[in-house]
Amino acid sequence: MNMRAFVLTRYGGPDAMELRDVPRPSPGPGEVLIHVYAAGLNPVDFKMREGMLRVISRYPLPIIAGSELSGVVVSKGSGVTSLAEGDRVFTRVDKKRLGAFAEFAVVREELVAKMPSSVDFTTAAGVPLAGLTALQALRDELRVTSDQNIFISGGAGGVGTFAIQLGKWLGAHIATTASARGEEMVRKLGADVVVDYAREHFDQVLRDYDGALDLIGGDTLLKSFGVVKRGAKVVSIAGVPEPQTASKDLQAGPTLATLFWAASWRIRHQARKYGVAYRYLFMRPSGTDLSELATLIDQQKLEIVIDRTFPFAHIADAFAYLEQGHAKGKVVVQMVE
Ligand SMILES: NC(=O)c1ccc[n+]([C@@H]2O[C@H](COP(=O)([O-])OP(=O)(O)OC[C@H]3O[C@@H](n4cnc5c(N)ncnc54)[C@H](OP(=O)(O)O)[C@@H]3O)[C@@H](O)[C@H]2O)c1
Repeated sequence: MNMRAFVLTRYGGPDAMELRDVPRPSPGPGEVLIHVYAAGLNPVDFKMREGMLRVISRYPLPIIAGSELSGVVVSKGSGVTSLAEGDRVFTRVDKKRLGAFAEFAVVREELVAKMPSSVDFTTAAGVPLAGLTALQALRDELRVTSDQNIFISGGAGGVGTFAIQLGKWLGAHIATTASARGEEMVRKLGADVVVDYAREHFDQVLRDYDGALDLIGGDTLLKSFGVVKRGAKVVSIAGVPEPQTASKDLQAGPTLATLFWAASWRIRHQARKYGVAYRYLFMRPSGTDLSELATLIDQQKLEIVIDRTFPFAHIADAFAYLEQGHAKGKVVVQMVE
């Protein structure tokens, strides 16, 4: 049986991805087949299309793209114990396999969690990648504790909307940057201090923070070192990978670590100048962490901000919108109305 899917055919611009009819996959041992109701878009999807991640992941092309989805389990392979047919689920799919932009997707059981019961499929599809990234960066890398002052750059985007709320949930005082377009929203999500990055230099108004999460990279990352105390840590998800990214996040050997060491030299040099630790994090798919997010959502402690939705047939328009870089929260495509 065939299904509709958005396929990466080669590395390149927007026309390198196209809607195609492809065979429906079937689940192997430890996997479930999910009828996909909605899928979230993320900058990684177009970075991958452009070939920016080729050093890390080389995909056999063509490949069905897409990193996160919500839907219903329709069948399971042998050995699956935590999920049953009919379960409403969401997942950040396997990075090596992708496949969320399709009517059906096969995902390993341990990457899948039951969806929060208080939200619909479209809303749930916006959670996995950005929500897990924010959780893992704040909880595991920055180890945020209550009463700390944490700076988050780029609070109005997909990851930022989760990071602000999770930072508050961990008990921290949160400062963030947003333009006038996003200010009201980030305040509503709990940001205590908002610096309009288009009007003010955040590094001139914020001082002595206990840690920073950089969601922008480039100059914003370099300036973040001046915002935190000596001995503090700056975690970036948008800067340049460093040696630990290779060993800890990618389980890669010394060759990639050396490459990242060279690529991140300028950033690490700047961090050293300020006496600050630098870490570039690649998020990790995890059903367990997703269940934690589902609980927070059902407890009304975590709100999901969906900026725009598009029908699956118009996924190219959804990409064009996301690639403008001004999304306020998440962009989601709907496979089932
Ligand atoms: N390493 C990882 O595992 C990982 C995981 C997830 C995401 N990422 C990366 O993290 C970055 C953020 O992802 P995302 O999903 O949050 O992106 P996004 O949703 O596309 O972010 C868009 C938002 O960024 C804001 N923005 C743009 N430039 C800014 C600046 N200089 N200062 C403050 N805000 C700015 C925009 O606000 P205005 O329109 O108001 O300017 C917009 O609201 C991307 O580069 C993504 O690839 C990495």
